[in-house]
Amino acid sequence: MFSLAGKVALITGGSRGLGRADALALARAGADIVITDILLESDVDEKALKSSVVGQALRKEGIVYAEQTAAEIRQLGRRAAAYKMDVTDREQIARVVTKVIKEFGHIDILVNNAAMLDHVATIENQDEALWERDLRINLTGAYYCAKAVWPYMKEQRWGRIVNMASVAGTMGGFGQASYSSTKAGVIGLTKSLALEGARYQITSNAIVPGIIGTEAWKKGDPKMNERMIARTAFRQPGEPADVAHAVVFLASEEAKYITGIELYVSGGIELFTF
Ligand SMILES: NC(=O)c1ccc[n+]([C@@H]2O[C@H](COP(=O)([O-])OP(=O)(O)OC[C@H]3O[C@@H](n4cnc5c(N)ncnc54)[C@H](O)[C@@H]3O)[C@@H](O)[C@H]2O)c1
Repeated sequence: MFSLAGKVALITGGSRGLGRADALALARAGADIVITDILLESDVDEKALKSSVVGQALRKEGIVYAEQTAAEIRQLGRRAAAYKMDVTDREQIARVVTKVIKEFGHIDILVNNAAMLDHVATIENQDEALWERDLRINLTGAYYCAKAVWPYMKEQRWGRIVNMASVAGTMGGFGQASYSSTKAGVIGLTKSLALEGARYQITSNAIVPGIIGTEAWKKGDPKMNERMIARTAFRQPGEPADVAHAVVFLASEEAKYITGIELYVSGGIELFTF
């Protein structure tokens, strides 16, 4: 079950955290992997980092390991590449997709994982620039990437789109107006693509993670993190692999009749916990 042998998966924001775990799990299931991220280790330009809001946030959170992950995947016997791709840049996306088609032959699985999670402020303190940034990366980025791979999936009459949403998108999040709005939008996008993709055997599903102990999450406010754990039924954060296993399932042939769903990988944070 769940063999992805012969499939090619493209993961956005795949250098660390959940994206990296997804890449490794998809590779273990047999897929060839293209990891994309806004930055690659070999291409870190300190000056450019300092001059951009995203760059500053990434530097603060600890940079990325896309190329290292691709090397690990090659050791598993799969083909793997790491490409720089900013999901807000349609031209970069088009270039990468063309390159993947040329070098790997096809794209079967898209994991829309790239996002920024760090804009936490109550509504009167939400920063307009960061609101716009979050929309552009977390929501428009997913739309651009889906649109770029769609013609190839449509032509081959097979595709799997897995979008990373969040419980912030289904439940709201205190101090997370921009983030939760983008994640609610991702769920809308997922369902529309599910309806349009069905005739081409393209499925589109959202994963709704709760609290997963990634580097990015650990950098959050410790008190807020503690409160989130306290209201999770399992009383502990999930592991990146918990999400990655759900991605492998949704990408598999076995999940061919599942589309448009919100699959919670949340340890029960949405339940009435007391
Ligand atoms: N960790 C959690 O608890 C949690 C919970 C719910 C949802 N999620 C979602 O899971 C996904 C991964 O989260 P994570 O915790 O691994 O965070 P993360 O910050 O480690 O991963 C996000 C990745 O996106 C990349 N990225 C940022 N802007 C980009 C851009 N413009 N173009 C391309 N790549 C870009 C970053 O470099 C990073 O590698 C996100 O969509 C997040 O919203 C995480």
